[in-house]
Amino acid sequence: MIYLDNAATTMRKPREVVDAVCEAMGSLGNAGRGASAGALDAGRVVLRCREAMARLLGCPRADHVCFLANSTAALNAALSGLVEPGDRVVTTVLEHNSVLRPLARLADERGAEVAYAGCDEHGLLDLADLERLVTLGTRLVAVTHGSNVTGNLVDVARVARIAHAAGALCVVDASQTAGAVPIDMSEMCLDVVCFTGHKALMAPQGTGGMAVAEGVDVRPWAEGGSGVRSFERRQPSEWPTRMEAGTLNAHGLAGLLAAAAYIEKVGGPAAVGAHEHAMARRLYEGVRGVPGVTVYGAWDVDPELCGGIVALNVGDLDSGEVADALAQGWGVACRAGAHCAPLMHRALGTERQGIVRLSCGWFTTEDEIDAAVAAIRTIASE
Ligand code: ALA
Repeated sequence: MIYLDNAATTMRKPREVVDAVCEAMGSLGNAGRGASAGALDAGRVVLRCREAMARLLGCPRADHVCFLANSTAALNAALSGLVEPGDRVVTTVLEHNSVLRPLARLADERGAEVAYAGCDEHGLLDLADLERLVTLGTRLVAVTHGSNVTGNLVDVARVARIAHAAGALCVVDASQTAGAVPIDMSEMCLDVVCFTGHKALMAPQGTGGMAVAEGVDVRPWAEGGSGVRSFERRQPSEWPTRMEAGTLNAHGLAGLLAAAAYIEKVGGPAAVGAHEHAMARRLYEGVRGVPGVTVYGAWDVDPELCGGIVALNVGDLDSGEVADALAQGWGVACRAGAHCAPLMHRALGTERQGIVRLSCGWFTTEDEIDAAVAAIRTIASE
């Protein structure tokens, strides 16, 4: 199989990650619950993983890295933990439903006022529109670091400056970028960064969380066992316990820890991202100009703003048909359809057709890209 669906999840994981999870499955107890050797080992794994993720995201305080099941859980928790009744929130048409739907709920249930910054015909965020919408008193700006449809990257440091100038917070969805694009939340002045482990970080599904800048008061999203302060009626407010009710996924976090070490060993997120970008660029060069093929995203105008994705359509074929043909005829795994990003499709005019998304990963090879290019050229010519 030629696996080009890394934006959905990385299927090939480093051997070290698989080994770490297998070892953890046979040896770890429950972190923070009890003092048996297994429980203490689990606690150490979780702590080391917190430290590793804090380093990877440039979060000065490891105890402000909180683990949740994925970035969707983290975004729900962050947004509902920050938005008060009647608050104004600005987001963008690039967002995934993991941002759009929690905000829709906050609009329905808390009367939040949500405004959506637009994009240009290439799907690039219109920063002037965003700046216009972020009026004084806006509570927060929720923005993706990279579109899961086009792969276009967003200058989140600039968005944070715009947000802060109006007294708003900047919450970043780093689902598509953590592990493949350098993030330094201190230097970029980001208030909350939500991440998932199973994409570019190459860790198991069920790992992820949020890194929160000091002084940003995200209210707990759930109450439950914490292993500390058991006689307190409500969830303790101390970090990271306030966001971590219930047993943590220490087995998965052992994998995330190994993945973070692997990424550091191979040169950090910049190296991972450079490889993904080079593979995607080869794919783009192979299909650009092919009669019938439309490529979306910033490749034609500013390749530096492109991540590891090539998003395309062939003629007016339904994107699902093309993806099926790629899978059945050539063993190419990709994703078609709406990718849970309805406003992005509306902006690109692809609501009905969807988009064929081919997304590269650290283990993608040139031979795989060349085979995928040949397959797309054949489909287009037929
Ligand atoms: N959010 C994931 C994707 O973009 C699943 O495919």
